[in-house]
Amino acid sequence: MKNEFLPSAKSYKELTDRALEAFFLQPGDEALRGFAEAARYSLLAGGKRIRAMLVLEFCRISGGRPEDALDIACGVEMLHAYSLIHDDLPCMDNDDLRRGKPTNHIVYGECIATLAGDVLQAEAFRTVLHAKVSESAALRCARLLGDAVGLDGMCGGQYLDMIGEGKTLSARELDAINLRKTGALLAASCAMGVAAADGSREQEEAALQFGRLLGLAFQIRDDMLDVLSTSDELGKPVGSDREENKNTYMALLGSDACEREIRRLTEEAVEVLRAAFADTAFLEAFAAQLAERKN
Ligand code: IPE
Ligand code: IPE
Ligand code: MG
Ligand code: MG
Ligand code: MG
Repeated sequence: MKNEFLPSAKSYKELTDRALEAFFLQPGDEALRGFAEAARYSLLAGGKRIRAMLVLEFCRISGGRPEDALDIACGVEMLHAYSLIHDDLPCMDNDDLRRGKPTNHIVYGECIATLAGDVLQAEAFRTVLHAKVSESAALRCARLLGDAVGLDGMCGGQYLDMIGEGKTLSARELDAINLRKTGALLAASCAMGVAAADGSREQEEAALQFGRLLGLAFQIRDDMLDVLSTSDELGKPVGSDREENKNTYMALLGSDACEREIRRLTEEAVEVLRAAFADTAFLEAFAAQLAERKN
């Protein structure tokens, strides 16, 4: 059947935001309502929905319909929301603003915020495993997600980021952190889109590599914006990295070298993409937009 869906960032974001509305609505027990509300607060607080878009578009260019991967996209956004809640906690980056709103722990307190992160992580896997795709595709997606966010993935990256505070790391060490804390989930989002459409392992591998490169560029831009932007534009505090003595490309190399590195990584990502997929126009434009993003 011919695929008539015309991809656009706006339509993908709307599709995702609408689908996310359905989660954490009806807890089995009225006593859990406040807990569900705390999870919804961060899940629905906005966000660019980049990871969801990657899931949906990779599904489309792998021969599926984006709507078919919607549960998987929602699961990825839940996982991401959990990571942000925990990242902002006083014991971590200690930030009080996220997506233009007070962070979860500012509104609900540290205990409920910690649990809201926990439940978003658990429900993320549940949502992926119950996704309306074939059982083998759901399992494959859950494996990709698990591989991306555990000890040697996002959590490991967050750990290395924390213990690196106040030390001087090399660019290689910084890459190893950024690949895990940010690149791994972006890469998995791409590959899960392929898996949702039962794409080939070669395409999955290319999607992972594209996502890793995009993720490295994404974190470099994030670190630059933390220095050069404003909290109004970002919806999160600026100067947070310096306050926490973080290692960043910005501190290590300065903004000109960062710009060059973002461009190089984005070009390499697009090459990887073109070698494995036919219909790459949307993702190429998307990668270019991410490279120049302002928030
Ligand atoms: C922020 O991610 C965390 C990083 C990995 C740097 P995003 O910039 O994608 O955050 P939202 O989802 O748009 O708020
Ligand atoms: C966080 O990186 C990556 C995550 C796993 C959440 P940052 O700490 O730089 O993200 P922001 O700047 O708070 O969004
Ligand atoms: Mg952090
Ligand atoms: Mg942070
Ligand atoms: Mg940051």
